[in-house]
Amino acid sequence: MIKRYSFGHVFQTDSIPVIPEAQTGAVPYMEVNESEMSLTYTMDPEDIVYGLGENVRGINKRGWIYESKCSDESKHLEDRRSLYAAHNFIVVDGREKFGLFIDYPGILTFDVGYTELSTLKITASDWNLDVYVIEEDTVTDIIRSFRRLIGRSYIAPLWAFGNGQSRWGYINAEDVREVVRKHRENGIPLDMVYLDIDYMERFKDFTVNKERFPDFADFVKEMKDQHIRLVPIIDAAVKEEKGYSVYDEGIEKGYFCTNEAGKPFVGAVWPGRSLFTDMLNKEARDWFGDQYKVLLDQGIEGFWNDMNEPSIFYAEDRLADALTEIAKMQDGEQNLDLDAFTHFKNLVLDLSANPEDYKKFYHTVNGKKIRHDQVHNLYGYNMTRAAGEAFERLEPDKRILIFSRASCIGMHRYGGIWQGDNKSYWAHLLMNLKMLASLNMCGFLYTGADLGGFGSDTTEDLVMRWYALGIFTPLMRNHSEMGTRRQEVYRFTDLEGFKNIIGLRYKLLPYLYSEYMKAVLRGDLMFRPLALDHPDDKRCRTIEDQLYLGRELMIAPVYEQNARGRYVYLPERMKMLRCTRDGRIEETILEKGDHYVEVPLSDVVFFLREGHLLPLSRGGRCVDDVDFEDLSVISFGEDAEYEYYHDDGFTRDYENPANFRVIRAGQK
Ligand code: NOJ
Repeated sequence: MIKRYSFGHVFQTDSIPVIPEAQTGAVPYMEVNESEMSLTYTMDPEDIVYGLGENVRGINKRGWIYESKCSDESKHLEDRRSLYAAHNFIVVDGREKFGLFIDYPGILTFDVGYTELSTLKITASDWNLDVYVIEEDTVTDIIRSFRRLIGRSYIAPLWAFGNGQSRWGYINAEDVREVVRKHRENGIPLDMVYLDIDYMERFKDFTVNKERFPDFADFVKEMKDQHIRLVPIIDAAVKEEKGYSVYDEGIEKGYFCTNEAGKPFVGAVWPGRSLFTDMLNKEARDWFGDQYKVLLDQGIEGFWNDMNEPSIFYAEDRLADALTEIAKMQDGEQNLDLDAFTHFKNLVLDLSANPEDYKKFYHTVNGKKIRHDQVHNLYGYNMTRAAGEAFERLEPDKRILIFSRASCIGMHRYGGIWQGDNKSYWAHLLMNLKMLASLNMCGFLYTGADLGGFGSDTTEDLVMRWYALGIFTPLMRNHSEMGTRRQEVYRFTDLEGFKNIIGLRYKLLPYLYSEYMKAVLRGDLMFRPLALDHPDDKRCRTIEDQLYLGRELMIAPVYEQNARGRYVYLPERMKMLRCTRDGRIEETILEKGDHYVEVPLSDVVFFLREGHLLPLSRGGRCVDDVDFEDLSVISFGEDAEYEYYHDDGFTRDYENPANFRVIRAGQK
């Protein structure tokens, strides 16, 4: 049961497609303090607090303070309060059980036992918000109800479940050809190569650098003939440059965000001085969405939207002030003591993503001016919505791949997300795992992290262990930052090991796609904390490094360097499946309880639940090669059966009953 409580003048965020009638009376469970603009709940020591989607720390969010504030946050350290998203949904599971969603476009704080160990306190920056309380018998049902409320998650095309290779720094067609050649020569499956900002003409959205990619449409086709899709990046900011059609047209039509004086607000991102499309204005949003056509027309079928928090390197007036101040310092005696030096340093450091700058520009929504900071968390959402809505107009019969960096709930209907600029840290491999469950709760199912780590130099063993997790995530992409150690798998020594791990992904595709689609269509979690299936098993309530994947599998990746295995807790009898470096899958039955499991670097170990079966394909070098009907099965139990979903993978006929069938043990 879902109840909505409304306070003040609520801005229509479109996070929820059909808004239920508001209730009167007190909000259950929570103590409301309007003057403090807060909601408070006293937690029981045993309570778990799930949710908050993309954020730092664990699956149980207790013990830290989080902010819903979409930020270009590249460190992902434990002391951060927000990443790129605002996912305002939590579930309290303990003495009482309920879900809570705050529909609010501004900055919100979730203090989950940070200030006081047992106090959960949610504070808004103004008191105009909708509070949804969701009550059901189980956590799974609470999440299902919530997912029904927010609408069906985005569905990616089947090819987007292949292996993707990316790097900031593939600067021309030859670089891309080499990536493809090396994968194919070494027998490593590949479906996508991502194009980062290097493909654009001086970082201008919807342009292609003609020197680097002389005939882009031909090149897209050349790649497609090899079963490779190119997936270009699109940035939020539009370069200020007369003669650049996107800029000229946006200016002429008044589609950019404006400053107090009504002039276009100028901030800088990759291209230097740039403007920000008013994504909250429907007409401007439609116009921005239509721009994707120029790349669709050249054969592109997928995109990633970046820097859409929006990230701002500097605002023009702040830069001018800083430069004046620094010039003054230059005229002085240039002997900076601690205070003067800190001031000097901060003049530069405070230029980027300065909270004051987000108060300096405006959106026009239904003819009304709204200051950006009050609706900050809706920007990335609406950029991706611009794309998603345009794809429905421009390509009604085809699924287009789209995922975003910034998001808030509502965007999950239009695209997926990747987990942003992680680093080549072992801790970030584990964070990747934990975030999957939280993201699924908030409706983000097409998701994954940069395998191998985006920032910092990686190591071969980290990349390999990370792939052993990444092969299970819908978005599977190796991506890294310019200037870091190269980490395409063919650059390392144990090619056979990588080939085997990535090869397993393609064998698992029928299962992964089937579980993804069922989770999307039914509002379920593809990745679940164990406690959701075993609410009475105390051990499960604290396990955060193992997850259920669909109904059948449990994953428990190795996330520590030099580990030769790990402890795994089995809440029930399971069959351990070990994919060895020669591609065989060994099966061993293990009893409920604790086990130390050896996991050599190139093995992938995962678990099949009793009474279930796992369908497997024969694999392939790309998704097009995989036969989704010629399946073998591994079963655990004679009567095991599996509800298999498969469709054509590119049209939108998702609900057709012919897409579902039952596979039984001993039968294909
Ligand atoms: C930031 C993105 O998060 C990263 O993935 C990308 O490589 C850089 N921008 C450059 O476009």
